[in-house]
Amino acid sequence: MLGSTYDTYDSNASFLSNVFSTYFNHVVAENGCKWDATEPSRGTSDLTECKAVQSFASSNGASFRGHNTFWHSQTPSWLPGSISASDLVNNVIPQHVQQEIQGMGSSVTSWDVVNEVVGDGVSNGMSALQCVQNKKAWPTQTSDNSNTALVADLSFIHAAFSTALKYADSNTRLAINDYNTGAQDAKTACIFAVLADINANAGIPYNRLAVGFQSHISSTNFASKAALVANFAKLASLGADALITELDIALPSATSGNERLQAAIWGDYLDACLYASNCHEFINWDPRDDMSWLGTNEAGTLFDSNGNPKPAAYEVAARLQRYAAGEPMLCATALGTGQCMASAPAGSSTGGSAPSSSAPSSTPVSTSSAPPTTTTTPSTGGTAAHWGQCGGQGWTGPTVCAAPYTCQVSNPYYSQCL
Ligand code: G3I
Repeated sequence: MLGSTYDTYDSNASFLSNVFSTYFNHVVAENGCKWDATEPSRGTSDLTECKAVQSFASSNGASFRGHNTFWHSQTPSWLPGSISASDLVNNVIPQHVQQEIQGMGSSVTSWDVVNEVVGDGVSNGMSALQCVQNKKAWPTQTSDNSNTALVADLSFIHAAFSTALKYADSNTRLAINDYNTGAQDAKTACIFAVLADINANAGIPYNRLAVGFQSHISSTNFASKAALVANFAKLASLGADALITELDIALPSATSGNERLQAAIWGDYLDACLYASNCHEFINWDPRDDMSWLGTNEAGTLFDSNGNPKPAAYEVAARLQRYAAGEPMLCATALGTGQCMASAPAGSSTGGSAPSSSAPSSTPVSTSSAPPTTTTTPSTGGTAAHWGQCGGQGWTGPTVCAAPYTCQVSNPYYSQCL
């Protein structure tokens, strides 16, 4: 599933209608499902905007994911307030998570159950609790910057996940979502530690869990494809899913060279997900540069400020079509062709399709210049998975859905297993 963000009050309605009916097939509310929007006063559930975004997805034949049921930011005015640790853990969080997940129903591929709970000053070897206390944010401490301890353990995370497990559909993955993750580094190690804690101490089975790698990166600061592949494989070995949840790639300037590097990095992140057995959601944060939270000048999205596709948008379409055609993952990456065998004999397999030019180089590699046509969602084997594409103009993948799902026509370009 290839997605982006949407809120009903977004500008550029005609662009959004077009891009979500032809290019993206997955939607997340940029703000509409957050605590400030969904529980304006304690115990009062207001899912109007969140449901409106879910309806927008459905009307465009797209699937929907939920972001988020707990975050220390964008809280309603009554939070954090003077709520005690025990009231928060035993009442406030369970009530909010139940209201939101139960209210949003079963058509949610995954929920960001907790968002951005791991600190940025962590170091290797920290325990899950140390990783979260390093955030130095509510609710492990009060929000008045007095460094006063509030919730002294990870019970707030356990409460969120155990409530989510109780009320979410059995097909919905429950994610811990965070930024600056995906490389082989201390924050990603902390994510794995917190995931293990959620499994062990909240009793959440790994086959219900996921890690959301937000991926707010730049052309000078990104995780290598090799690191992403290794982290996704580690999650797969546990039975957990990997999600790319908020990808944007800021540029120092929108030169053609920077945009081609951006395309190569986008291709690496997409390939790491496409060719992983446990990555089925690839979300881009804000669909075009003038709508980006980064600001227009960062040029961090797939479409420019006139709504025209950038090289990265073509690259994404090309990688999807390459995958759907059964081609192996490229060995060349944004870091060059060092991964490719320099002198592979003609016609031999190189564990990826090495570019015809053989010498390794540091030139970023992107593979496309064709405009995006329709989204192709990869399938697994002879049948298409739940939510996967199963038909549409130009579709060459499976047309039969894995039981009990059926192939339903969303539009001439896209049929999905629902
Ligand atoms: O809705 C109000 C509007 O009524 C008011 O007139 C206007 C001016 O104050 O503010 C509007 O709310 C804004 C909201 O976006 C909706 O547009 C908030 O001020 C603004 O802070 C909020 O920004 C969002 C930000 O999260 C908040 O932290 C961004 O759009 C959104 O892209 C961003 O997304 C986060 C993810 O949720 C988590 N990961 C990081 C990512 C980027 O920060």
